[in-house]
Amino acid sequence: MKIKTPKYWKQYSLLDFGNGVKVEQFNNIVTIRPETNATNNLTKKLSFWQQKANYIYKSKTVDGGKWNIENLPEWFINYKLDIIDSRFKLQLSNSKHIGIFPEQAVNWEFIASKAKANTKVLNLFAYTGAISVIAAKIGANVTHIDSSKTAIKHAKDNAEINHINNIRFIIDDAYLFVKKEEKRANKYDFIILDPPTYGFGAKGKNWKINKGLEHLLRVCKSILTSNGVIILNTYSPKFSFKQILPILEKTFTKNAKIEFGSLALIDSFNKELILNDFYIIVNN
Ligand SMILES: C[S@@+](CC[C@H](N)C(=O)[O-])C[C@H]1O[C@@H](n2cnc3c(N)ncnc32)[C@H](O)[C@@H]1O
Repeated sequence: MKIKTPKYWKQYSLLDFGNGVKVEQFNNIVTIRPETNATNNLTKKLSFWQQKANYIYKSKTVDGGKWNIENLPEWFINYKLDIIDSRFKLQLSNSKHIGIFPEQAVNWEFIASKAKANTKVLNLFAYTGAISVIAAKIGANVTHIDSSKTAIKHAKDNAEINHINNIRFIIDDAYLFVKKEEKRANKYDFIILDPPTYGFGAKGKNWKINKGLEHLLRVCKSILTSNGVIILNTYSPKFSFKQILPILEKTFTKNAKIEFGSLALIDSFNKELILNDFYIIVNN
């Protein structure tokens, strides 16, 4: 198992984490928000960070909470990867998310190193589309699927900021979409999927990772080119390597290459915060 951290961030940093929160800086804005994986102690006192923070999110229930500001502000962050410059819109949301998952820059780096002009990329559960933008900047033909209108609007804004017009945005349920692509016999060279533990499809249908992932992967495999690659990202502690690896072994042939591990961020005191698990499957 590998632990990977992003290499190219200049305008994002994880300042500190612990006591159930993470303190981050996005461009010139400092935020404090809950983080389940921050089970250690903060290096500096919470009161120290509270004085520095622009925005603080307080959990009210298990599922929700509130920022310390009524109008949810937006701002921008730049990300430069070798010769690719990207810029993303950030916005506080009621769900504590800000518009990017900084640790996933590892996946952005991966796609940037592998995709080529005209490669077909399918981004499922695509949210605000950072990876869609990066793949599109390389010249890939990107199909971007999310069931949330708000997420698609944010992703379209990101494409516009980056002067990109080679992303096809579709509001749909990830599973329903791949089933349609299977029927149409469409194939993709890269499929990126970052399913939530729970979610809702376009028609309000429930999605649960423990029930849905196996079916979803089976259809993804059938619309993958022969040497195509799947990048799967997960962040469900109850649904980790032990549960997912057997599903991958069942779905793909013995010749498929499977690399897996975790995505982490390193804070300004050199502590490592593990956030997601990743699986890269090369079809064969
Ligand atoms: C955690 S986010 C993905 C983050 C993304 N990988 C990134 O780095 O920007 C999960 C996304 O899945 C979407 N979603 C949830 N259930 C879905 C479903 N059944 N079909 C399609 N999208 C879904 C949500 O709207 C949300 O934008």
